[in-house]
Amino acid sequence: MTKINDLIKNMSLEEKAALCTGAGPWTTTPIERLGVPEMTVSDGPHGVRRVEDLSDLMRESLPATCFPTASCLASTWDVELIRAVGQAIAEECIALKVDVVLGPGANMKRTPLCGRNFEYFSEDPYLAGEMAASFINGVQSKGVGTSLKHYAGNNQEYQRLSINVNMDERTLREIYLPAFENAVKKAQPWTVMCAYNKLNGYYGSESHKLLVDILKEEWGLEGFVVSDWGAVHDRVASLKGGLDLEMPGPRELRVKAVMEAVRSGELSESVLDESVRRILGIVLKAAKTPKGGKFNVSAHHALACLIAADGMVLLKNNGILPLKDPKRIAVIGRTAKEAHFQGGGSSHINPTLVDNPFIELQKLAGEASLSFAEGYPKDESFDQALIDAAVNEAKSAQVALLYLALPASKESEGYDRPDLDLTQHQIALINAVAKVQPNTIVILNSGAPVVMGDWIDGTAAVVEAWMMGQAGGGAIADVLFGKVNPSGKLAETFPNRLVDTPASINYPGENGEVRYGEGIFIGYRYYDAKQVPVLFPFGYGMSYTTFTYQNPQLSAKTFKDVDGLTVSVDVTNTGKLAGKEIVQVYVHDRKSRLVRPPKELKGFVKVELRPGETKTVSVDLDFRAFAYYHPGYKQWVAEDGEFDILIGASSADIRFIQTVNLQSTQKLPSLLRRESTLREWTEDPRGVRVLASFMTDISAQMNEMLGGDGSQFIGMDPNGFLMDMPLPGLFHFVGSSFTESPEDIVDDLLAKVHKLD
Ligand code: BGC
Repeated sequence: MTKINDLIKNMSLEEKAALCTGAGPWTTTPIERLGVPEMTVSDGPHGVRRVEDLSDLMRESLPATCFPTASCLASTWDVELIRAVGQAIAEECIALKVDVVLGPGANMKRTPLCGRNFEYFSEDPYLAGEMAASFINGVQSKGVGTSLKHYAGNNQEYQRLSINVNMDERTLREIYLPAFENAVKKAQPWTVMCAYNKLNGYYGSESHKLLVDILKEEWGLEGFVVSDWGAVHDRVASLKGGLDLEMPGPRELRVKAVMEAVRSGELSESVLDESVRRILGIVLKAAKTPKGGKFNVSAHHALACLIAADGMVLLKNNGILPLKDPKRIAVIGRTAKEAHFQGGGSSHINPTLVDNPFIELQKLAGEASLSFAEGYPKDESFDQALIDAAVNEAKSAQVALLYLALPASKESEGYDRPDLDLTQHQIALINAVAKVQPNTIVILNSGAPVVMGDWIDGTAAVVEAWMMGQAGGGAIADVLFGKVNPSGKLAETFPNRLVDTPASINYPGENGEVRYGEGIFIGYRYYDAKQVPVLFPFGYGMSYTTFTYQNPQLSAKTFKDVDGLTVSVDVTNTGKLAGKEIVQVYVHDRKSRLVRPPKELKGFVKVELRPGETKTVSVDLDFRAFAYYHPGYKQWVAEDGEFDILIGASSADIRFIQTVNLQSTQKLPSLLRRESTLREWTEDPRGVRVLASFMTDISAQMNEMLGGDGSQFIGMDPNGFLMDMPLPGLFHFVGSSFTESPEDIVDDLLAKVHKLD
C-alpha cells in the first residue's frame, strides 16, 4: 500500500489521467518513469482471445482452447469443473501473456431471445453466482485476473449501447445483482466490467449507486471497474460515478478532459486518486505472475471434452440411447462434419484443435457403417434436394443422427434472436427423416433454448449439446455411445412457445426504454407462479441410470435466521450404470408481507454414484436463503414463520417437502408513515399498540357517522372502505371534533411509534 501511495504522490496529473484510460485496445497505460508496467487484457469468457497484434481490435487471435460456452458450463452444475476451466484458461493467459481475462458473464437470462445468452450462465441468480465465483476463483488461483461482466442489467442485445432498463429496486437486488454480489464476495474478481446500457436513467459507466455505493462499498470490491469497450460517454461523469479504467484507448481527449476538470475543481483529485489506487493495485499484482511459456494443448482439449460431455443435457430418450451396436448409422447435418461449437462476437476463439463430430463418432462406432448427408444449408435458405438426400440415407439405416445448429443470423453477440425456432428447413428435415426413420435422434448445437412443438414428437431422442467448445464433437460421441452417462441439467427453462416467456410483453422495449414489468418473476419463478406449462423445466435432465432420494434430514425444525439450516438427503443409484445426479434444494416462504415466488433455488450438489451406491449429500442454507429484499427497509429481511424446504431432481420434480420454522432476530424499524392506511397500522405491531387507545374514540365517531351497523352506508362494506384509507384521510372523513389537524395527529402517533423502534 505504501508503495502505491508513494507512486500516487510522485505521479503527475497527466500520468494519473492517462492511467485511467487504456493505451490501446487491450493494454493499460504504462508509466515507465515510475516502473509501472502496462497490463494486457483479452476476451473471454470461455477461452482466451489474445489478439496477436495488440493494436488490433478484431483480427484473428492466437490459438487457444475454446471451452464450452457458459450455457453448457452452467448445465454441468459442477463447481469443481468450472474451477478447473478457470485454471486452464489462466494457464493459457500466462502462456499468451495476458494479465486479465474478460469474463465471466453473470447477467441473467431474462428472455431466451437475448443473442448473447450463450455467454451467460442461467436464469437463476444463485446458480449463476456460484458458477461465476468458481470460475473467478479458478482463474485467479493462478495469479491471473478476471473481469466480471456486464454489470448490470445487460439482458438483451437489442439497443444494448443505449437502452434504458427500468426495474424496481427489489427486482434489481433479488434477481439482477445477486450473481455479481456472490461472485464479488466469494471470489474478489480483480476487475468488474460495467454494462453498456442505462439502468433507471444512468449509464452503467456513470452509476454511482451501482459502482460505488453497492459494488465497492456494500460488497467490498477491492479491484477496479473497467468500462465495457466504448461504454464511456462522459469521462469526468464516469470517474465521479466510480468507473476507474476506460477502455479501449488511447483517448487523448479524455485525458485532457480529466486534467481540466481537476484543474477547474469540477473533479476532486481525490476521486481520481482513488481510481489510480485501484488500478495500480491490480497492475502491480498482475506483474507478479511471470508470463510466457506454453500450455498443454492436448490436456486442455481433453478437459474441454470432459466438460462438454458433462454439460450436455439429455432432454428426451425413448430408450434408443445409449446406442446399442447399430450396424448402419445415417449421420445427417452439415455440423456433423463442420462442428458448430461457439458463438459470434467478442468471445470468438481461434481454437487449437477442433473435433470433427463425424470422425469422433466413427471412432466409437466399431463395425457400424456411417453414411453422411449435409441435410441443410448454412443459412436460412431452403433446398428440398438436401432433405431428399437425407431421407434416402435415413431410410436404409438403423438410426439417424441429426446434427443441427442455428445459423449466425439466429444467435450471436450484437443482436437478439428473431425467434426461438430452428430454421424452416431444419424443421422440415427433422419431420421428413423422422417419418421414414423411427430411431431419429436430434443433437442440438445452440447456446439457448429452441422451441420443439413442431417436431419433437417424431423423434426418439433429443440431446442439447450447446455451443460445446472445440472438443464437443468427441463429447457428443461419448454421450451417444454411453462412454459418458449424461448428467447435465438445464440452467434455464425451455419454454413451449415464445409468447409463454416471462418478458414477452415487455421486450424489447420502445422509445429507448425497456420496462422489466415481470419484476422478480423471471425463468421458473414465473412459470411456477403463473402455472404455465413448459417444454423442459429448469433443473431438468435425463440420465442412463436412475436415482432415488431417501431419508431427508434437517438440522433443526425451528431455527434462528442467523444460524441457518443444513438439509441432507440420501441419494442412491438404482440403475445399472455409474452416473452423476444433481440434487437441488429450493426454498418457499409460506407467508410473507411481500409477494414471493413459489420456490427459489438456494443450494445444489452434484454427486457421482456407482450402481447400487448410496451417498448422503447436504446443503447449508444461510440467512440469505430465506430472505427477500425489502425496498422499504432497504435491506434483506427474513420473516418469522414457516418455510418449505423442497428437495428435488429438478424444479418440477420435487421429491420431498419439509416445513421448518424460522425465528427472526432482526430488529426492524416501523415502516409506518403519513400515507399508511388503517390496515397497515393495524398490521404493524407498534402501530396497533399506539393506535389502540386513540381508536376507541375514532370508532365511536365512525359508528355514529355510519349509522351504527353501517347498513345505511351507500351499498359498500364500510370496513373494507375505511381500512384502506390513509390515516389522515380517514380522520378528515370521520372526525369533525378534532382540535388538531388530522396530519398533526398522525405525526404525533408516528412519533410515538418510532419511539418504540
Ligand atoms: C463486449 C465485452 C467484451 C469487449 C471487448 C464488448 O463489445 O460487450 O464483453 O469483453 O467488447 O471485446
